[in-house]
Amino acid sequence: MKVHSRRTLPWMFLLFLVDPGSFQDLVSKGFIGESVLLPCNSSRSSVVAVFWRDKDDKVLLDIKKGELDPGSQDPKFKGRVFSFPEEYQKGNFSIIMRKLELRDNGTYECTILTGTGPEKIRITLSVEERNSASCGSTRTNVLLLFVFSALSLMFYV
Ligand SMILES: *[C@@H]1O[C@H](CO)[C@@H](O)[C@H](O)[C@H]1NC(C)=O
Ligand SMILES: *[C@@H]1O[C@H](CO)[C@@H](O)[C@H](O)[C@H]1NC(C)=O
Ligand SMILES: *[C@@H]1O[C@H](CO)[C@@H](O)[C@H](O)[C@H]1NC(C)=O
Repeated sequence: MKVHSRRTLPWMFLLFLVDPGSFQDLVSKGFIGESVLLPCNSSRSSVVAVFWRDKDDKVLLDIKKGELDPGSQDPKFKGRVFSFPEEYQKGNFSIIMRKLELRDNGTYECTILTGTGPEKIRITLSVEERNSASCGSTRTNVLLLFVFSALSLMFYV
């Protein structure tokens, strides 16, 4: 058994190099405190495992042999990232990330290992504050007005 795994492992690795599989690049947007769906689905039937990782290689979620592997989840995502086990059969390995924080802003990768090569989906998630643009500009405008009035008063006097 050991000899077998030692021999097949390099071959599996080679398969990755030879067959880059399919790659998808997506963008998504979310708001602080809200939820966002990060899509990842496959049309292939021979799915072996699914790995969700962030840019620092932290584990969001792992699905192995058609089942959720809850032990591997990084504390950063514990209780905040969920998948839809009832959708696995349909090749839908999307996840939902709840209670978004500003630090969730970044890229995420979903790797689907299949019998016929890997599939990778990269999602660039930007997390924003709702209406942050208008709030920020209003605050800046008030400040500018104040500085401007103060300055003109100085020159006037
Ligand atoms: C994933 O699902 C979307 C929407 O249903 C579809 O457009 C896309 O082709 C699917 N991707 C794969 C790899 O099956
Ligand atoms: C995957 O499942 C989620 C949750 O039910 C759903 O919102 C999403 O549209 C599904 N994606 C596809 C490609 O079916
Ligand atoms: C994250 O935030 C920075 C700063 O606001 C921004 O430049 C960047 O585009 C955002 N998105 C990602 C995916 O890093």
